[in-house]
Amino acid sequence: MADNYLENKFEELRNRPAAKKPTPSLSTLLRKNRSYRGYDQRCVVTQAQLRRIVEVCTRVPSGRNQQVLRFKLLTKDAGSDRMQSLYKLGGALPELHLPFPGTEPEAFIVICSTVKPDKWVNMDVGIAAQSMLLKATEIGLGGICIGAFNKAALTEAFALPCEPVLVLAIGKPAEHIEPVPVHAGEPLKYYRQDGIHYVPKIVVDDLIL
Ligand SMILES: Cc1cc2nc3c(=O)[nH]c(=O)nc-3n(C[C@H](O)[C@H](O)[C@H](O)COP(=O)(O)O)c2cc1C
Repeated sequence: MADNYLENKFEELRNRPAAKKPTPSLSTLLRKNRSYRGYDQRCVVTQAQLRRIVEVCTRVPSGRNQQVLRFKLLTKDAGSDRMQSLYKLGGALPELHLPFPGTEPEAFIVICSTVKPDKWVNMDVGIAAQSMLLKATEIGLGGICIGAFNKAALTEAFALPCEPVLVLAIGKPAEHIEPVPVHAGEPLKYYRQDGIHYVPKIVVDDLIL
């Protein structure tokens, strides 16, 4: 073996471009993309990350291609703490008073509409929301749709120029969530047991008409 064989081998390995992490499949993203109500606050979400998430909305369908949705990005350094009293999480588990103190989401995307929301706008909102949550999942974050928010107070607190229609919380999830297959007609209320959040989901055979 030549004297410098190991040295050369080491150099060669060091200079090799880092292996690219494979993009998770859609099935993986869908499985991980649960509605999280508790976050690891050690992970601070940046404006750049929220911008990357919103960018998916430049590539989604829109009824009549109207594209009336606009997005307010709220991070910790942009005063997102003012959001904390303006939304409710876990309406089906009121006794838990979610989120638990210290696990509140600290970044939000407020989805607004420049026109009075009608059925087309609402469909656009759903498409945008799910697409953004999948992107958040792809970049190692997670989130939740929040429909239970104080519209008037939110509009005033952040001087929104158009109507907020849905809020997304975004952060590093700190919850263990397990989907549970159920049949149509069975209870669909989510529940918690031994620290795990279970979400009943109807099996495909029962979804097809
Ligand atoms: C349009 C919409 C509004 C929602 N609003 C709230 C909300 O205000 N608070 C909350 O805790 N969860 C909210 N959720 C989350 C649902 O409760 C959640 O999707 C459901 O429990 C199923 O859980 P999964 O998303 O993990 O499958 C909302 C979901 C959607 C799609």
